[in-house]
Amino acid sequence: MHSFLALFTLALPVFTSALGHDSVSRRHRRNPNRAASAPHVRKATYTLKDMYQGQSFLDEWDFFSQSDPTNGLVDYQTKQAATSKGLAYVQDDGTTILKVDNTTTLQSGQNRASVRISSKTQYSSGLFIADIYSMPHGCSVWPAYWSVGPDWPNAGEIDVIEGVNQQDLNQYTLHTGSGCSLTNAQVATGRVLGTTCTSSNGDNSGCAFQETDARSYGHTFNLAAGGVYAHLLADDGISIWFFSRDEIPADITSQSPDPSSWSTPSAFFPSTSCSISDHFYDHSLTIDTTLCGDWAGAAYGGACPGTCADAVADPTNFDSAHWALNYIAVYQS
Ligand SMILES: *[C@@H]1O[C@H](CO)[C@@H](O)[C@H](O)[C@H]1NC(C)=O
Repeated sequence: MHSFLALFTLALPVFTSALGHDSVSRRHRRNPNRAASAPHVRKATYTLKDMYQGQSFLDEWDFFSQSDPTNGLVDYQTKQAATSKGLAYVQDDGTTILKVDNTTTLQSGQNRASVRISSKTQYSSGLFIADIYSMPHGCSVWPAYWSVGPDWPNAGEIDVIEGVNQQDLNQYTLHTGSGCSLTNAQVATGRVLGTTCTSSNGDNSGCAFQETDARSYGHTFNLAAGGVYAHLLADDGISIWFFSRDEIPADITSQSPDPSSWSTPSAFFPSTSCSISDHFYDHSLTIDTTLCGDWAGAAYGGACPGTCADAVADPTNFDSAHWALNYIAVYQS
């Protein structure tokens, strides 16, 4: 979420030729079979530790209701307010909905009600599988699914799903304390956007990959009924995969995940240039939707009309600004 400078990194093609598509296609030419697996992932047996689905998102996660640390034009709601306003609820089919208010007309510059929740349980390692049917998107909208430890940025932050406005591809970003960079991105299909993971309030771009699958974000994600984002936080690295709905591996569905059998991850941050266990610990999983602020506000424009604050004032801009969550499963080995 601390992606203040992420829009600037998007404009830096220098990383892509060095580490992105080129290296991937070279690997494909040399050995196409090898590219279709995740050989860098140690084989392990994963046991289900926590399953968040339905009401457990509301009961086992905290509602953050302070002002948005990324300066968005949102009023994050308490659990009581969010449920009574219909911004957080469980459908009859078990799907959990987290919404931005789409009924209140505001004046330009006012904050709109939204929701940000974080798991009460914290994790320092694990395989996290998020099955999501739809996600927020649109002008001024800045959704994120991420995890973060205490004392930012020292215990790290992993941004698994994040984007702003009418962005079409997902972005994966790490933020850390000092001494962490991305120097070897050979085992990932994503496009490297930045290699400096060390972040501060002055430079929050982080080290990042851009997803290449057009179904990874926003409207096209939702059209495909979403899919699964899986990330593995392990001592030897952080790997992140995206599977569109019709490509979810059977071992995920059967709750016996074996990431070493999956395709090449979209993002891989190896421990070779970043001690993962030193930089990532005590993480709470977090889901939010903010509006404008440090990234969506700064990047606002293009096909989005008027000002970002004007967009926030009009409730009709938020009919697609909700998360529909199937489950998040946490496995440990
Ligand atoms: C708000 O959005 C939902 C979809 O999330 C839609 O069903 C509903 O009609 C919208 N409300 C208004 C007042 O437009």
